[in-house]
Amino acid sequence: MTDTDWLIRVEDLHKRFHVRREKAPSIKRMIVRLLRPYPHEILWALRGVNLTISPGHIVGLIGSNGSGKSTLLRVIGGVYVPTTGRVSVAGHVGVLFELESGFHGELSGMDNILLSGALMGYGRKAIQEALPRVLEISGLADFVNVPVKAYSSGMKFRLGFGIAMAFDPPIVLVDEVLAAADEGFQRSAYRRLEQCRDNGAAVVIVSHEMEAVRKHCDRVVWLADGQIRSEGPTEQVLDEYLRWVNHSPQKPGARSSGHS
Ligand SMILES: Nc1ncnc2c1ncn2[C@@H]1O[C@H](COP(=O)(O)OP(=O)(O)OP(=O)(O)O)[C@@H](O)[C@H]1O
Ligand SMILES: [Mg+2]
Repeated sequence: MTDTDWLIRVEDLHKRFHVRREKAPSIKRMIVRLLRPYPHEILWALRGVNLTISPGHIVGLIGSNGSGKSTLLRVIGGVYVPTTGRVSVAGHVGVLFELESGFHGELSGMDNILLSGALMGYGRKAIQEALPRVLEISGLADFVNVPVKAYSSGMKFRLGFGIAMAFDPPIVLVDEVLAAADEGFQRSAYRRLEQCRDNGAAVVIVSHEMEAVRKHCDRVVWLADGQIRSEGPTEQVLDEYLRWVNHSPQKPGARSSGHS
């Protein structure tokens, strides 16, 4: 599929966010705040992540809430820029991050397909060729002229999945949304992801559903507090993760480190 022996390479990636921790509002506070805004708190969502993903793998990205999974996927997908470090991808990336994002509710499914294709950088010819495939994969032919705001969650997932897969991207990133699909479509979605893998793609799936990860992923990366805690064959990393889950207090969020 490509000339490289990797499709995704992440080198010493750090991602920092600035968050403002609001205190409960009061008139006095609001006036004081106008004069002197609260300082930003620095929050490190990713702290020195190194990861190489080769062709022909489905990788499960697991970890507790706030551990940095979506942030990592978004940096790989080009939505966020790294604060420091480097992310390289060898080819087009098909992404499926959130059901609501990326679609214009007032536009029909068809217009959203055309728009998404253009935003992903594909030309008119490639989009025209992909169109029947989006409809075939999503099973939404009967709804393609309906505004997307009238779609159910599962239908939005189908549309997003159809668009992400129709262009045969060598890299596919999926953040949790699979759970929105009904049982039948989930099965066919996983089958397609497996076909992609067999054709040499790299697929990364973020999931809290450990059984799905066990069944479909051949490698697992466990993120904890913005760092890779463990990485390796599925059974081994799931065992470590589930042992940790059973013995640790469960608190969400990344580590904050002072103010800016
Ligand atoms: N846009 C943002 N602005 C500020 N902080 C953010 C932003 N996005 C994520 N964070 C913070 O970064 C940390 C990692 O968030 P992230 O969404 O990557 O976690 P996650 O592992 O995907 O969690 P979940 O399982 O709940 O989806 C969290 O502490 C979160 O509060
Ligand atoms: Mg997330």
